[in-house]
Amino acid sequence: MNQRSTLKINADGHLEIGGADAVSLARKFGTPLYVFDEAYIRKMMRVYRDTLQSRYEGRGLVLYASKAFSCKAVYAIAKSENIGVDVVSGGELYTALSAGFPADKIYMHGNNKLFSELVYAVESGVGTVVLDSLSEADMVDKIAGEKGVKQRVLIRINPGVEAHTHAFIQTARTDSKFGFSVSDGSAAAACKYVLSKKNLALHGYHCHIGSQIFEEEAFKLAVEKVMDFTASVKNSLNFEADTINLGGGFGVWYNDEEPKLKEKDYENYLIALIEAVKSKAVEHGLKLPYLLIEPGRSIVGEAGITLYTVGAIKDIPGIKKYVAVDGGMFDNPRYALYQSKYTAILANRANEKCTEKVSIAGKCCESGDLIGVDMPLPEVKTGDILAVLTTGAYNYSMASNYNRNAVPPAVLVNDGQAEYIIKPQTYEDIVRNDLIPERLK
Ligand code: LLP
Repeated sequence: MNQRSTLKINADGHLEIGGADAVSLARKFGTPLYVFDEAYIRKMMRVYRDTLQSRYEGRGLVLYASKAFSCKAVYAIAKSENIGVDVVSGGELYTALSAGFPADKIYMHGNNKLFSELVYAVESGVGTVVLDSLSEADMVDKIAGEKGVKQRVLIRINPGVEAHTHAFIQTARTDSKFGFSVSDGSAAAACKYVLSKKNLALHGYHCHIGSQIFEEEAFKLAVEKVMDFTASVKNSLNFEADTINLGGGFGVWYNDEEPKLKEKDYENYLIALIEAVKSKAVEHGLKLPYLLIEPGRSIVGEAGITLYTVGAIKDIPGIKKYVAVDGGMFDNPRYALYQSKYTAILANRANEKCTEKVSIAGKCCESGDLIGVDMPLPEVKTGDILAVLTTGAYNYSMASNYNRNAVPPAVLVNDGQAEYIIKPQTYEDIVRNDLIPERLK
């Protein structure tokens, strides 16, 4: 198990997270259940925050990319750790604000922000809007003008760096739907356009090259391209950016095909970025910019596990053994979407050796509803509690009510104590917005 993690096997042979016995959690709160370890989330927020402090004299801010896991409690944790957040929709913004998160530390993203979302953002006093299109610049300029404010903005640029990760989650290739391309001149043209808007205060650039990336080189190359771009805009438009946002994307451990990074490794990733910024600033004679990073997955990913109860077991001799659980693609669609590979453990028999490889199936009416294939486990029995690890990022946030299954609740564990941070959905919740037209009654 990962060294940074609070996952352990206790004296009863049960899996333990944050000092809480996973089997007791399953008994008390039921399954499926998302479990989050607060200490882990805080530890990761601090690794980035403290590295910016010690290696960049605190001239920057860590923004938790809340698309990875958005709920009021996680914004409350980010607030208490004195970091900022990135939101990508009116819904995430609403969640952050209703958790009391300070608006000035919120960065608003999205490749197609709606007019209504931009009105909401500007009216709420959102610190910075990251512009992703010219039409968005027009909208924010108009809204800010009507409100009598000058809105702080960054422009999302696409430095054209290819990171070696799953193709679906690469965002900075030149065919990306995100940002303005540096290579074809549209990023420079966007700067000129935004600088001409009187209600927009352009501060700099944002880039994000993808997710689940382990190659430091890809990040460094992106930084270099952003700094080169900063210098070229300074020369051509006489505008020197004072803020650079380098996005997120640091990888996490899901299974042993991936490295198990330690806190030090994440610190080193950030140090490499900082060094690249510093040396490019010297090369081009630029002032050191205010530096932002937006990690999501690496803050919450390994902080979360999902607990399931094993139901039907089907052995198709010589072909496959299916172990079905009481969750599935409605709480974790990542196998269905990306063939993501997870690690599973029997929480109630965590010491037992793995003797077989099984496919873990969900309960949705869909053959592709799998949590994983060929997952090594001891002989699984109906009633076992199965824990799937590293489900803290992009699981709850991508969950759905497919087949009208309830999205599982989430508990936060702190010092062995667990409490709900997301209550269980009821059937009543599921039908809450349904209406039957009079003529059908
Ligand atoms: N900033 C921006 C602008 C982003 O688009 C993202 C992720 C992040 C930060 C955070 O990246 P992270 O540190 O979490 O890698 N649903 C996919 C992941 C999509 C990532 C989208 N953008 C998955 O489940 O793997």
